[in-house]
Amino acid sequence: MILFVNACVRPQSRTKQLANYILQKIGHDVKELVLEKENIVPLNCQTLERRTKLASSGIFDDPIFDLAKDFAAAEKIIIAAPYWDLSFPALLKCYIEQINVIGLTFAYNDAGKPYGLCKADELIYVTTSGGTIFNEDLGFGYIKSLAHNFYGIKNVSCFKAENLDLIGADVESILQRTKMEIDRNFA
Ligand SMILES: Cc1cc2nc3c(=O)[nH]c(=O)nc-3n(C[C@H](O)[C@H](O)[C@H](O)COP(=O)(O)O)c2cc1C
Repeated sequence: MILFVNACVRPQSRTKQLANYILQKIGHDVKELVLEKENIVPLNCQTLERRTKLASSGIFDDPIFDLAKDFAAAEKIIIAAPYWDLSFPALLKCYIEQINVIGLTFAYNDAGKPYGLCKADELIYVTTSGGTIFNEDLGFGYIKSLAHNFYGIKNVSCFKAENLDLIGADVESILQRTKMEIDRNFA
């Protein structure tokens, strides 16, 4: 199963358009998770306590773990998120809080180092920006670090289209260039 984590917000999302382009090349058995429709909220005192209690007893059949279980079971993961405020929409961070469950997506070894429990062999991140992405560490870089250090997914790549909101930008040809890059990678 390919898990498509859709953190796009606008109905005419260019980021989603690029993600769809990738999916039509590699997609079979795709499970799309539209974050806006998932009622995902930040963890609070109550939900955190409840989750910690359930997790420490090793019982993962509560629906609170469904998102984490899907993420851990996926064979490939595609995350599509527009570049917002130098990173991505807060909804994606809330999703990450939901899936980062010790014992499901990752665990710690005796030395305190995290290791991954996820099945996926690849994570593809897709983003578009209005201007230039001048500090990748905060958006894609963060996701890449989670993939490497928490989830155990080594093969991580990013497809992006930048400068889409500049005055006079030829949006279609910028997107087309990214699609050509996708073509080269998924021939
Ligand atoms: C709330 C918000 C924050 C944004 N922050 C940035 C930013 O920090 N840097 C940037 O270059 N563009 C920024 N943009 C522009 C978007 O990255 C750009 O329009 C992107 O293509 C939107 O993706 P979409 O078409 O998939 O919705 C922002 C747009 C919004 C709505």
